[in-house]
Amino acid sequence: MVAPVAVAVAATTALATPSSLTCALVPSWQGLRGSLGPARSLQWPKKQQRQCRRKAGGTSVTAQFELKPPPYPLDALEPHMSKETLEYHWGKHHRGYVDNLNKLTAGTELDELSLEDIILATYNKGDLLPPFNHAAQIWNHDFFWESMKPGGGGKPSGELLELINRDFGSFERFVEELRSAAATQFGSGWAWLAYKANRLDVGNAVNPKPSDEDKRLVVVKSPNAVNPLIWDYSPLLTIDVWEHAYYLDFQNRRADYISIFLEKLVSWEAVSSRLEIAKARAAEREEEEERKKREEEEKTSDGEVEEIYVDKKSDDSETE
Ligand SMILES: [Fe+2]
Repeated sequence: MVAPVAVAVAATTALATPSSLTCALVPSWQGLRGSLGPARSLQWPKKQQRQCRRKAGGTSVTAQFELKPPPYPLDALEPHMSKETLEYHWGKHHRGYVDNLNKLTAGTELDELSLEDIILATYNKGDLLPPFNHAAQIWNHDFFWESMKPGGGGKPSGELLELINRDFGSFERFVEELRSAAATQFGSGWAWLAYKANRLDVGNAVNPKPSDEDKRLVVVKSPNAVNPLIWDYSPLLTIDVWEHAYYLDFQNRRADYISIFLEKLVSWEAVSSRLEIAKARAAEREEEEERKKREEEEKTSDGEVEEIYVDKKSDDSETE
């Protein structure tokens, strides 16, 4: 459903008034019916279009997603990440992904799916469907803004630090691995810390670490809009290494941007919270798999009893 518009502008500066922002993000349903070219190639049947709760100038508007603001004012990360960078990165690039996804999904079955489900459906085993890049980039940027905070950086603590020490040897080694992943991602992309607790055969993508044990932390990098959701990993932290993330502040010095991100911006509190959620998700899955296994065993066991009973009957009739 469409979130209240006030949320979309709560932490912003004067990039747009609430009403103009809304209108920019939610093109009219009627106007889009004739321009659904790429989305029409998707093979999902249409469902009833949801109506927006708001009206703009008396005309009903529809939208699936709105531009979610960073959880801090656009100048809050200065001097490490400038307000100007946020104005372009969030206000232009992130906004563009939202606009494009809404155009591509309006009137298709996709507009009733969650962002995560759209990402998985349109990844399409690597043969990307048109909405994938826009959907994944919205998710990635929401996640990226929440991976930072004013006064961030430093070192994690508690269980997160324990797992980092266990899985990377030390915090310093982990930082080097993440730094290296971010620096060596050729062209545009992302570097991630993720909790790997998935089935080895994810069915949708080539698992980048199929031989690694589950229930551990991993560092991975991904090109363009790809994110660890398609490998069924639980992302915990990301660094955006598209040039638009750092060029205004650091020009071509990606390494300096990565250092500042890790030393001054990263929110280890956010990462710790995500770790809790990832572990809970993994435990829930494990319980579900155990439950299914027990049910299968019970079914098999019931079948065996039935077979013995039938055989006995058959023996009796032969005797008669
Ligand atoms: Fe970006």
